[in-house]
Amino acid sequence: MSEKIFNVAVIGVGIGRSHIVEGYVPNADKFNVLALCDLNVERMTPIADEFGVERRVASFDDVLAMDDIDIIDICTPPMLHFPMVMAALKAGKHVICEKPLVGSLAQVDEVMAQEKLSKGKLMPVFQYRFGDGIAQAKAIIDAGIAGKPFVGTVETLWERGADYYAVPWRGKWASELGGVLMTHAIHQHDLFTYLMGDVKRLFGRVATRVNPIEVEDCVTASLELENGALGSFTATLGSAGNMTRLRFAFENVSFESDHAAYNPGDKPWTITPRNAETADRIAALLKDWKHVPSRFETQMARFHDALVGKAPLPVTSADSRRALEIVTAFYHSSTSHEDVPLPIATQHPCYQSWVPAQFRAA
Ligand SMILES: NC(=O)c1ccc[n+]([C@@H]2O[C@H](COP(=O)([O-])OP(=O)(O)OC[C@H]3O[C@@H](n4cnc5c(N)ncnc54)[C@H](O)[C@@H]3O)[C@@H](O)[C@H]2O)c1
Repeated sequence: MSEKIFNVAVIGVGIGRSHIVEGYVPNADKFNVLALCDLNVERMTPIADEFGVERRVASFDDVLAMDDIDIIDICTPPMLHFPMVMAALKAGKHVICEKPLVGSLAQVDEVMAQEKLSKGKLMPVFQYRFGDGIAQAKAIIDAGIAGKPFVGTVETLWERGADYYAVPWRGKWASELGGVLMTHAIHQHDLFTYLMGDVKRLFGRVATRVNPIEVEDCVTASLELENGALGSFTATLGSAGNMTRLRFAFENVSFESDHAAYNPGDKPWTITPRNAETADRIAALLKDWKHVPSRFETQMARFHDALVGKAPLPVTSADSRRALEIVTAFYHSSTSHEDVPLPIATQHPCYQSWVPAQFRAA
């Protein structure tokens, strides 16, 4: 039995199709995909047929005008997120938006201000946060069993080539808004702060070595966290094969994620307690573990909980802001060759945009 079923319009049927398959179909007692919107009608039609969605439009403005749509789920290329999120919030809709939420800290602050004025709720997508592996690690840390965080490493070793960059918006600052740091590693870096805490300072390097693109496809960073722990990030699109790995050393426990590139939070993680007492505490905590379906299935289900007032939003604009602040510091460090302290102030040279000046729209 469920409460209200919310009517959804999915905008953009690339990853939007995965939102339907993983997020809305398994939660059919909570959501009904009532409309699809895509400029590419040839791409949209078979997907609409597949899921029996009768209403198909090419114009986003048409969706804004539909009174029976409760949720607008934005799955368009990154440069469209800011205007679409703002318009959807102003139209009084609930909003889901793919990553990156927007293209600067200035824009995320504008979105957060609009959110306060709007009746709709906004949930950015960070679906890697959901699954048994990540949820168990989070539970152990939040219960105080892991103890003091020492160090963590995040490796995003993915493979992308010419076929991937044949899609025109990819690889360009004006439309993708960033490279491997922004588009691919943002999920894993979010998991790092989700488990380890806020970043205090960061030294980052970026390079474009794999593909003939404007944006970066290799990055590394050294981080210090507010709680004193240290971290390192490595990401590339030049790996042979795709692999994600997060590893954390805490006072009482070490954790290593599963290596599934696009779902590292799903399968149980390797959890190594330092002693028998910690092992017993973990066993007691996880004894009656309730399965957490991974990715969009749980993120969308928990969005429903938030909409009906049962729980807070599972991912917030503040979570996106934190991720984008790391991105801002990272790009600034890569050009200034400085160790960049956070928070990034409104007068910081990259607050309005991290895009290199020569690639900014006139
Ligand atoms: N969360 C994840 O794991 C994940 C995975 C892939 C992509 N993404 C993000 O999702 C977004 C889309 O990526 P994608 O790979 O699906 O791209 P895509 O190019 O495959 O699909 C985007 C779709 O949006 C449509 N579109 C473009 N402009 C539009 C407009 N004005 N109105 C309606 N439709 C429009 C295009 O026709 C296209 O079908 C990006 O921000 C990307 O970073 C997230």
